[in-house]
Amino acid sequence: MSDKKATLALEGKDAIDLPIYSGTLGPDVIDVSALTGQGLFTYDPGFVSTAACKSNITFIDGGKGVLLHGGYPIDQLAEHSDFLETCWLLWYGELPTKDEKASFVANVSNHTMVHDQMTMFFRGFRRDAHPMAIMCGVVGALSAFYHDSLDIKNEKHRRISAIRLIAKMPTLAAMAYKYSTGQPFMYPRNDLGYAENFLHMMFGNPCENYKVSPVLAKAMDKIFLLHADHEQNASTSTVRLAGSTGANPFACISAGIAALWGPSHGGANEAVLDMLGEIGDVSNIDEYVARAKDKNDSFRLMGFGHRVYKNFDPRAKVMKQTADEVLAELGLENDPLLAIAKRLEQIALEDPYFIEKKLYPNVDFYSGIILKAIGIPTSMFTVIFALGRTPGWIAHWHEMISHPHKIGRPRQLYTGPAKRDYLALDKR
Ligand code: SDX
Repeated sequence: MSDKKATLALEGKDAIDLPIYSGTLGPDVIDVSALTGQGLFTYDPGFVSTAACKSNITFIDGGKGVLLHGGYPIDQLAEHSDFLETCWLLWYGELPTKDEKASFVANVSNHTMVHDQMTMFFRGFRRDAHPMAIMCGVVGALSAFYHDSLDIKNEKHRRISAIRLIAKMPTLAAMAYKYSTGQPFMYPRNDLGYAENFLHMMFGNPCENYKVSPVLAKAMDKIFLLHADHEQNASTSTVRLAGSTGANPFACISAGIAALWGPSHGGANEAVLDMLGEIGDVSNIDEYVARAKDKNDSFRLMGFGHRVYKNFDPRAKVMKQTADEVLAELGLENDPLLAIAKRLEQIALEDPYFIEKKLYPNVDFYSGIILKAIGIPTSMFTVIFALGRTPGWIAHWHEMISHPHKIGRPRQLYTGPAKRDYLALDKR
């Protein structure tokens, strides 16, 4: 508990003492739970100033552009770690030993295949269905296949569900892509690394022996890692809220996928590429920057700004470096979209509007350029984000379920009509 307190002085009422708690890092929080007993609610649309929970998983310092997973800075993890090791870190809070890592990687590999009945779900979609629509459906449907391990109070069931989700997201994502192309689904291969296996299932076909470029596999793994978790963002909060009702983990992750789809959140990477395509040429940038600054124009520079980062998103820095590496590897250094992106970034970092509003490039600004260079269609970009974010979602779900928690149930400031009697039809 805490000996620090805030005193809320209310006109005509006794002052209320509210406990203040301090975390390891970051701002103190004021526990306002006593307000309900005083007939009061807090009011914080968009939860801008609300800490919804305690968590040990990830810390963000938006002012300094710091992102830590289990205390480890994201740039160090991007440099030295890999996606599956980061999955372990998010769940256990510690980096795995050599043996733990080897056994986890093998366990994930052994769960990459999906029940063959799953292929039937895809047949029900139009070939041009948005892959995020497909992912919302098929990930939620996974719960139809695992009745033997859906007791969320059982830590072993929570663990196997997490492994199944981390293992099967690449398979389902690649199936969604293959379905759109009319090509046959590719089975996962247990002899390939995680990202290599994903690219194999995406771009391989039964008629030839497809060799995955190690540079592209490393870049893909880094993109997954950079998306792995980001504390209480909109989709993770959705997963926590769904999980607080006792819903099964597959349904909760499906809810997270739905929330991520929006262009203000994970859908921004797809929107960035659409925006760069619409701008078309460096010579048009000034017109679009002017539109982004115009209050009467709903246009926003996609890939810029962030609820928490009021500095460079540290993931964007790593992403930009990876973009340079991948484009150089592919001989695409002169990619016109990259030229527009770099010029846009430079203008935004010099323009008073963006400086004053602290609008920096975020994780979505460069990721799309890398994904496009790898050959992934724009419509699949948010699916890649969902695949990368799965370990974060499921770690937060596990953290909540494995501790005492209440069902999430916010209140409101009611501004509708006061009580009134029903008016008969002939009186209206
Ligand atoms: C992600 O929460 C997370 O952690 C998310 C994420 C994760 O890993 O989970 O980091 C992933 O979602 C990254 C963000 C991706 N979204 C985009 O790139 C879409 C473009 N960005 C904006 O829509 C916006 O910046 C948000 C939604 C990201 C953040 O919005 P906020 O915090 O609610 O801020 P706001 O909308 O109140 O904007 C503050 C001001 C406004 O101007 P004023 O009303 O104060 O005059 O900045 C302006 C906005 O108009 N502004 C922009 C802008 N973003 C904000 N103006 C032009 N272009 C932009 N991109």
